[in-house]
Amino acid sequence: MIMKFKIFRYDPDKDVEPYYQSYEVEASPKDRILDCLNRIRAENDPTLSFRMSCGHGVCGSDGMRINGTSALACQKLVKDFKEDEEVLIEPLQVFRVIKDLVVDMDPFFERYYSVKPYLITTTPAPDKERLQSIEEHKMFEGAIRCILCACCTASCPVNLDKATEAYIGPAALVRSFRYLFDSRDEGSKERIALLDNKDGAWGCQTKWMCTKVCPKEIPVTKEIFEVKKRILKSKKGRM
Ligand code: FES
Repeated sequence: MIMKFKIFRYDPDKDVEPYYQSYEVEASPKDRILDCLNRIRAENDPTLSFRMSCGHGVCGSDGMRINGTSALACQKLVKDFKEDEEVLIEPLQVFRVIKDLVVDMDPFFERYYSVKPYLITTTPAPDKERLQSIEEHKMFEGAIRCILCACCTASCPVNLDKATEAYIGPAALVRSFRYLFDSRDEGSKERIALLDNKDGAWGCQTKWMCTKVCPKEIPVTKEIFEVKKRILKSKKGRM
């Protein structure tokens, strides 16, 4: 079968403004959209730029907008689209376009690192490891699935709004949840101080788009809600 694509193109070094280019490529129903893009680049247009690495929903590098929805190109199959449909491929929103489908992820990772995405401990390390029960681990195991693809942040209406774009975004909050609810972490005071403001946890307006697009099916909005509850509990002196 022949798949048709309409792809966002923009090279800031050459182009006055972005434009769309159409391509047709031979594909089978089980091919992924990522396979089609690779074929276009290999056989048709080597100037087309996009990121990819693992090809299996693990590295998070091929986040892009497919027919208007943020997704991983390696997780979308040709058979999910109509044969005569022209599939629209665009870069993730929110971020500056470097070239074609490649966006500048630096602001995303700056916000991610701002929430201290690592275990904070204040007590002396035990002889071996810091132990945790299966039940304790279950508290945050959904959040561990996050692969930092930025599909959530790129779909969040709060991040998309210029007036509230300073909001740290759902991915950073999922990582905060992961450590706030990790029984081994001893940095909750520090974490809550970072999150208890309008650009932190309170920036979330519960729009659910993050949950809808997450390719790892993380209950993002619910986890952000738990972070908010945790902040309120700590203020009432219950944590
Ligand atoms: S290429 Fe790694 S997640 Fe898609």
